[in-house]
Amino acid sequence: MLFDFSQLPPGEGYKLMVNTIVPRPIAWVVTKSEQGVVNAAPFSFFNAFSGHPPILGVSVGDSPRGPGDKDTLANIKAIGQFVVCLVSESTAHAMNVTATDMPPEVDELAEANLTAVPSALVKPPRIAESPVAIECETFQLVELGSNTLVLGKVLAMHVRDDCVLNAEKHYIDTPKLELIGRMHGRGWYAKTTDRLEIRRISLADWAANKGGG
Ligand SMILES: Cc1cc2nc3c(=O)[nH]c(=O)nc-3n(C[C@H](O)[C@H](O)[C@H](O)COP(=O)(O)O)c2cc1C
Repeated sequence: MLFDFSQLPPGEGYKLMVNTIVPRPIAWVVTKSEQGVVNAAPFSFFNAFSGHPPILGVSVGDSPRGPGDKDTLANIKAIGQFVVCLVSESTAHAMNVTATDMPPEVDELAEANLTAVPSALVKPPRIAESPVAIECETFQLVELGSNTLVLGKVLAMHVRDDCVLNAEKHYIDTPKLELIGRMHGRGWYAKTTDRLEIRRISLADWAANKGGG
């Protein structure tokens, strides 16, 4: 079935996108307000976009409270810094607590019984229970209509010690992170324990084996 987006009522394309473009990694974004209140919320419109400079992107939608930004975006605009923590199986339920639309004065990490640890280079803390925390400064804000794409320059990354295979070579034991991704609907997630390996093919091997190898 073809869905022509120009014929869809406003916003309906969102449903088709979020229920097909899966699994999506989840950025658990920690920010701090000018008043010093710590905020955390998950965002699955998230990915890495450049290696050099190291840029990631998080897309924040309109606030469900009406006009005005979600607390995450308001804090990023005010402070210009944020921490992206990644979500493991063991932190999935706490992440879900922080997705609740709590008022700006509420410390969502405290509500979810999570531990805030000072970051190395930025003002917002990181979540101790998260196996990876990425300290960022705002690189660019791109207005997209219903969403604002926050492009962040990565300043530093914390990886839980037992998930580092070789610190000098920057090799990470990715499966050990046990990260989850967002699937369809409002409550479905995918684990990253069911994997398959597909080896890359050099042009020479492709040419040698094509047609019979
Ligand atoms: C797994 C998950 C992924 C989400 N992804 C997004 C997203 O990509 N963009 C967005 O605006 N909201 C997303 N949300 C909803 C926000 O987390 C939610 O609106 C939150 O209350 C925002 O918090 P804040 O006002 O403290 O920034 C997601 C929620 C969940 C549970």
